[in-house]
Amino acid sequence: MKDSKYITIEEAIRRFPEETQFNLRGWVYRERKSNKFIFIVLRDESDIIQCVIKKNKTPKLFEKAQDLTIESSIKIRGELREDSRAPTGYELGVTELKVVQIADPFPITEYQSIELLLENRHLWLRSRKIKAILKIRHTIVGAIHEFFRNRGYFEFDAPIFQPSMSEGGATLFKVDYFEDFVYLSQSWQLYAEAGIFSLGKIYNMGPTFRAEKSSTSRHLSEFWMAEMEAAWMELDEIIEVAKDEIRFIISEVINKNKKDLEILERDISILEKYVNAKYPTIKYAKALEILNNTYDMNVPWGKDLRTNEEKTLAEHFNVPVVVTHYPTEIMGFYKPPSEENPEEALCFDMIAPEGYCEIIGGSQRSLSIKNMKQRLEKEGEDPSKYEWYFDLRRYGSVPHSGYGVGVERVVSWICGLDNIKDAIPFPRTMDRKEP
Ligand code: 4AD
Ligand code: MG
Repeated sequence: MKDSKYITIEEAIRRFPEETQFNLRGWVYRERKSNKFIFIVLRDESDIIQCVIKKNKTPKLFEKAQDLTIESSIKIRGELREDSRAPTGYELGVTELKVVQIADPFPITEYQSIELLLENRHLWLRSRKIKAILKIRHTIVGAIHEFFRNRGYFEFDAPIFQPSMSEGGATLFKVDYFEDFVYLSQSWQLYAEAGIFSLGKIYNMGPTFRAEKSSTSRHLSEFWMAEMEAAWMELDEIIEVAKDEIRFIISEVINKNKKDLEILERDISILEKYVNAKYPTIKYAKALEILNNTYDMNVPWGKDLRTNEEKTLAEHFNVPVVVTHYPTEIMGFYKPPSEENPEEALCFDMIAPEGYCEIIGGSQRSLSIKNMKQRLEKEGEDPSKYEWYFDLRRYGSVPHSGYGVGVERVVSWICGLDNIKDAIPFPRTMDRKEP
């Protein structure tokens, strides 16, 4: 069997019934042996398929296949037929079998604790569930690139080693840097603000690090953020870009990943609703009014919205909701106070429904060196480290804005996951850095 003759299971089913003889290769996903038959469910990157070896028809193969264990790697040739009893509706009658490796007993069996699955993440990546998620993640990442490139944004890269913070000192990872130290990037943003004076509208997707000292189902210490920054744009404009981006991402997943969504048992009609819906934009003050008046929640002005409050708000609207004008006091130094009411900042979060909470954070950017210096000092930061950043306000300053999408947050939501850890191949959290 020449390598070029092998096709994927999905391709074989596509060619059927015009063709019926196929060469497939992959791994034993399940196996069941009796006196007369050996059933193997073969898996490859595309799908699974039931294969059968009959003792009376191919006694030599029947002997050879006795050794096969879960995850053994094999190459087979056989005749495809429809069979409604088989897991995916097709069965391959095996006529040739080459065993590539007999796998050791696989450490993952049917019912396993989440911890064991994480410890064996390098093996669990093969599961149908994680494979479906990874394929959806692939679509989402591609969609983000396509979205921005179609709109004339340039891809622009920022350093991962950074000399100072952008999102607060509490979640910085400090790393040795020769005789000195640096921090791992918390955001691409500050460097992007330099980039827009060259390229106008830019975007990026890159690894992002936060020393989050809480283990929740929504926090990773290493995650991917997809950010955009645009010269001349103001808050209301980037909010519309963000809404369009999310709708585009979801429509791409619906178009390209139906099978994967089915494997994850994700209700596609719910996702379709998000593609067509209008997403409301409300001010923080209005959000408090809803929470306190309709849901008796008692959130005082000036407090950030917590998980429970975000969940309630999103449930109230049942589609992604954008909340703007959070209290300036609790916002990052670069989020400008609004002119009408300096207590409120020109910023926004997008909150996803179904309990997935904040998926996007963004803002217009402050143009006042004085205001930013004061706020940095208040946070205990040395403003002199930000002189290069203040230069951007000194040489042709223009209004500009940007936001960041949490890629794993979006993957989790679209896939309907219980935990963000499954949205990335090898999750990193406060209590997990292996394998
Ligand atoms: O809201 P954040 O902190 O915003 C920024 O970093 C801005 N500088 C972005 C910008 O304006 N360019 O983070 C943006 C998004 C959040 O809304 C969330 O979706 C995600 O990044 N995120 C995390 N995702 C997983 N684990 C974490 N620990 C995350 N922290 C933030
Ligand atoms: Mg945020």
